[in-house]
Amino acid sequence: TRRITVRDIAAAKERGEKWPMLTAYDAMTASVFDEAGIPVLLVGDSAGNCHLGYETTVPVTLDEMTMLSAAVVRGTNRALIVADLPFGSYQEGPVQALRSATRLIKEAGVGAVKLEGGERSHRQIELLVESGIPVMAHIGLTPQSVNAMGYRVQGRGEEAAQQLLRDAKAVQDAGAFAVVLELVPAELAAEVTRSLHIPTVGIGAGPECDAQVLVWTDMLGLTGGKMPRFVKQYADLRSVIGDAAKAYAEDVVGGTFPLEEHSVH
Ligand code: KIV
Ligand code: NA
Repeated sequence: TRRITVRDIAAAKERGEKWPMLTAYDAMTASVFDEAGIPVLLVGDSAGNCHLGYETTVPVTLDEMTMLSAAVVRGTNRALIVADLPFGSYQEGPVQALRSATRLIKEAGVGAVKLEGGERSHRQIELLVESGIPVMAHIGLTPQSVNAMGYRVQGRGEEAAQQLLRDAKAVQDAGAFAVVLELVPAELAAEVTRSLHIPTVGIGAGPECDAQVLVWTDMLGLTGGKMPRFVKQYADLRSVIGDAAKAYAEDVVGGTFPLEEHSVH
């Protein structure tokens, strides 16, 4: 088997096929998603909140992203692996972006990188693409800018909508192979999707995007706490794992594990 490539992604839009993306931060979880047929896995810097215990994505380092991305690549055979460039690893300019992306490509073995920002990041995208590195863009709510924008719906109102459309065009013109639209009104996401020839990947961006992405710990009910409206929870792993841990603890305390059948002589 060969891996999915950005050319397969382009072909899917031509055929009008929708596709799912999930985040992954470790080899084992990634292998389950890969075997389930998820075509694109994102080693998101949401690993900051969902895997590394930070409050936001802002503290995540390139070293951390490289380590997690390498694990996800090792755990998979078929999926296209996209790794986030973390905050501070590309904002200085195109050369810094290229140096950072090169590490993720060479050391971790990912097939593409993702970075945040539309017009403001188009020079970075251009140099990466020129250098042979496929880039997924990310506009709308961009969590690395939480200190400036907070976490709220983007693109509401005529001016903000026009800016989002300009951002979408800018990343397409710079050569991005896809663009994440995070937390934007469904009607606007639909308009962006119709106006681009590259696929849009929605999260909280309505049903008309070409693809969808969810954070795996949200999708499987591991995250805990109140979920945003756009998350659909397909399992309740927090209960599954918690109940199993309690049962194990009771067995050990009560002397019902291990038994003869678990013992060697
Ligand atoms: O880091 C992440 O998980 C992301 C997705 C939400 C698009 O950037
Ligand atoms: Na991210």
